[in-house]
Amino acid sequence: MARLDNKVAVITGAASGFGEGMAKRFAEEGARVVVADLNSKGADRVAGEIGKQAIAVTTDVSQRSEVDEMVAAAMKAFGRVDIMVNNAGLTHRNGDMLGVDEDMFDLIAAVNMKAIYYSTLAVVPIMERQGGGTIITTASTAGLRPRPGLTWYNASKGWAITATKSMAVELAPKKIRVNCLCPVAGETGMLAQFMGEDTPEKRAMFRASIPLGRLSTPLDIANAALWLASDEAEFITGIALEVDGGRCI
Ligand SMILES: NC(=O)c1ccc[n+]([C@@H]2O[C@H](COP(=O)([O-])OP(=O)(O)OC[C@H]3O[C@@H](n4cnc5c(N)ncnc54)[C@H](O)[C@@H]3O)[C@@H](O)[C@H]2O)c1
Repeated sequence: MARLDNKVAVITGAASGFGEGMAKRFAEEGARVVVADLNSKGADRVAGEIGKQAIAVTTDVSQRSEVDEMVAAAMKAFGRVDIMVNNAGLTHRNGDMLGVDEDMFDLIAAVNMKAIYYSTLAVVPIMERQGGGTIITTASTAGLRPRPGLTWYNASKGWAITATKSMAVELAPKKIRVNCLCPVAGETGMLAQFMGEDTPEKRAMFRASIPLGRLSTPLDIANAALWLASDEAEFITGIALEVDGGRCI
């Protein structure tokens, strides 16, 4: 028996990076997967590569109606939602906090924070009817050990960690587990923004702050998410799991 047999996962931001890694790894372990992303071409590609276990849904998670439609599409295709992964996210470019304009701030707040509220409103009643479920958010080491240059992004991830813990205690009686992942800088489309510029020197600087000596990969994050999503983690709720090669020590 595979680790996610009979489970349905909705994963946002699944057209690339960590979300793509999770969608593919979850499917390998038997899950049926909704690949949701603003980038419809990427979502179609990922769902196509997975095969008939997956559907692609174009979703802007900053819009409540689109999040509702995403969950409705999951119900229509697969009849249930066991795993909700809030993974879509974005950052401002590394730099002075005073240089981030209000539109960018609002976008970060909408995608990294408010979208979690929208998906929670949509999936909790479904999970409650089903007798349980699990919610996983991709937070960040940035929410635990903030460093200069990414202040508003860091704060949005701190919000996600606190929301996770508070949701976990409130949803425990409904048998809904809520956890988050705290990846260290990883090899995805967001890396250049985090570093300010993607140069060999900047990469070496980032690697030097990670005891295990490398950046994270989508597979590292997918394997951690897989464990949290599976019944192996049935007694785990409210954690912010550092997937960071020791960065936060
Ligand atoms: N890469 C890192 O170093 C790193 C470290 C810690 C945490 N994270 C977090 O990991 C998550 C995934 O990012 P990634 O690193 O894989 O980068 P990525 O850019 O490859 O993936 C982010 C995905 O989110 C999608 N997205 C953006 N806005 C959206 C919206 N409004 N609606 C729906 N989808 C939207 C993008 O299209 C993209 O496919 C993010 O929450 C990010 O903050 C990344």
